[in-house]
Amino acid sequence: MAEEVCKHDLNNSCLSIFNFGIGSGLMALEVLKRNRKVSILGVDILPEMIERARERLEFWQSQVSLICGDGCKLIRWVGDNKFDVFISGYALHIIPREDRLNLLNNIYRVLKPNGLFITADKIVSDDLQHYREDNQLRRIVIVGEFKNLLREAGFIDVKEIFHN
Ligand SMILES: C[S@@+](CC[C@H](N)C(=O)[O-])C[C@H]1O[C@@H](n2cnc3c(N)ncnc32)[C@H](O)[C@@H]1O
Repeated sequence: MAEEVCKHDLNNSCLSIFNFGIGSGLMALEVLKRNRKVSILGVDILPEMIERARERLEFWQSQVSLICGDGCKLIRWVGDNKFDVFISGYALHIIPREDRLNLLNNIYRVLKPNGLFITADKIVSDDLQHYREDNQLRRIVIVGEFKNLLREAGFIDVKEIFHN
């Protein structure tokens, strides 16, 4: 994921990155370690995660801003076309399915034209037979449904980079 982010070519100018659900900063760290010029806005709903990310990313503090809050709400306050890249690791499955289109619409809106959205998550195939409970269904990402939501939000080039 970090490599895909750093490959995003904008004539080597500084990449502005929104990291949704930054957690303890592991993915942000992988991006920062690659020496690509980047600035990262990390958002997490839990204060303890923001604190852990702050500690982990201390060396790169001049390139990192951290905000504690609900990313689904905070993103509404971000202007259009502000970020080159939007990353999310293992966070979207936590967002209830019914709220995901709204979030994806906002992700599309805050990305610059030709912006890149990369998510790595627990994603299941379209075969739902093992997920009968309503509660489970709200908190999983289903591959076909998610790709459709991405297209509905405006994303054109939707790719699965890898899966097992
Ligand atoms: C499984 S962790 C992954 C953390 C990190 N991306 C990683 O890969 O190490 C998911 C993170 O998303 C955060 N999160 C969940 N819902 C969120 C929301 N609505 N807004 C912001 N962060 C959220 C959680 O607090 C948690 O830190």
